[in-house]
Amino acid sequence: MTELQIVTLPDEVLRQKARPVTKFDNELQTLIDNMIETMRAANGVGLAAPQIGQSLQLAVIETLPKEDDQGEDIPNSRELFVIANPRVVWESREVIDGIEGCLSIPGYVGEVERAYSIRVRAQDRRGKPLKLRLKGWTARIFQHEIDHLNGVLYIDKLTDRENFWTDEEYYNMRQAEMEAEEAEEVDGVAETAAPEPNE
Ligand code: NI
Repeated sequence: MTELQIVTLPDEVLRQKARPVTKFDNELQTLIDNMIETMRAANGVGLAAPQIGQSLQLAVIETLPKEDDQGEDIPNSRELFVIANPRVVWESREVIDGIEGCLSIPGYVGEVERAYSIRVRAQDRRGKPLKLRLKGWTARIFQHEIDHLNGVLYIDKLTDRENFWTDEEYYNMRQAEMEAEEAEEVDGVAETAAPEPNE
């Protein structure tokens, strides 16, 4: 397998509507294997063919590990999907805001509203029809990757122009939020522990 070069903005292939996959031949199988390897090497959870310079309606997605009751990752619980010619056939009215990044826009993250759950029809790596029901983070990744196949990027869909940060800004913001939460908790404890005056 070969690791492929990931293209980044402003490469125009990222803005094109991708061509449908019509041949599920050996060449396509090799491309898919290389995309999986490239996604894993980049620590990504999804990679669409335009991101490796191929204007094809094809994406690979690998979910985050599931967690047990203690919040520990369950081994081998990641799920791998290969989708060709996908379409979202239904989306929930329920939406959810979340933070996204993109391997083609390195160093940045932004907040995007997505449908909480979706249904997708697609073809698998051999061309067999697939019907998928997805929710939560998995549904979010699918929406992000399917957008790529239409030349759409998450930066087109920010909840607000201001909700776009460098990785470092976002990290510092989260740290500050966590510290503020901790400080509040300490205050709370101190208040209850303090002796009541005049009593
Ligand atoms: Ni992306």
